[in-house]
Amino acid sequence: MIKKGIILSGGMGTRMSPLTKAVNKQLLPIYDKPLIFYPLSILMLAKIKDILIVVNRGQLNQYKKILPDGKRLGIKLNYVEQSKPKGLPDAFILGEKFIGKNKVALILGDNFFYGQNLSKKLIECTKINSGAKVLLHRVSNPEKYGVAKIKKNKIISIIEKPKKFISDLAITGLYFFDNKVIKFAKQLKPSARNELEITDLLKKYKKLNKLSADYIGRGGAWLDTGSLEDFYKTSTFVSAIENRQGFKIACLEEIALLNGWINKKKIKESIRFYGNCEYSSYLKKLI
Ligand code: G1P
Repeated sequence: MIKKGIILSGGMGTRMSPLTKAVNKQLLPIYDKPLIFYPLSILMLAKIKDILIVVNRGQLNQYKKILPDGKRLGIKLNYVEQSKPKGLPDAFILGEKFIGKNKVALILGDNFFYGQNLSKKLIECTKINSGAKVLLHRVSNPEKYGVAKIKKNKIISIIEKPKKFISDLAITGLYFFDNKVIKFAKQLKPSARNELEITDLLKKYKKLNKLSADYIGRGGAWLDTGSLEDFYKTSTFVSAIENRQGFKIACLEEIALLNGWINKKKIKESIRFYGNCEYSSYLKKLI
């Protein structure tokens, strides 16, 4: 079982400036909670409790105000600062000490996942013995992502932001790796956009025949929060579901409670922490 997870939450969010000039993108709202709650909830649903959050240098204090150490959630939050964005695989170099001899999951701080049976799938993914695993999702704009071409259920090629169509299966921003990931990340060279590419890292596993894939089918959602427009679309999605059902998506305390990691006392602590707000009213209903 993978027990450690990294959330890559750096980046300057330039595309969303001026909103991101003073506040990190992952702390901006997707409807009723900060964006970072959503990827964090995904790791928690995968039963991962030991988490490293990679943040931009100088923005650590902002994060600690909302997610101090994880104790209220029954998890352990660690932080590391990144001096400048160097690409996704840099997370494994920065996180070397945190990962130690373990396997690790990586989720991008701006990725949103939702769907029936998602937790079950996530837990399955954490069971890899060796190699790497990715989650694929069919999209109408594959040129914006890393994509995988599949033949007989096997990944036969991977291309980062393909100019020419090869497949509409995007590689989502949630990855599961064995411990070799640290070694492989260190061997990578920056791409034309001067970043270490996750797709180059995945190619190393593919070459060894150690790359597997699962799917988020059409009943599941993998949404973008790359641009302002995407941000609002994702917010609208969350608002529609939450208001229809009366359940919250990515309520961290609820997931922790259902996982048996915290008790009602801790929920009361959270209510005091957030203060008198709609989120707290929801927490009150849980107990
Ligand atoms: C990154 C990865 C890409 C992946 C995407 C998922 O893209 O490079 O392979 O499909 O995240 O969100 P970027 O955010 O750097 O454009």
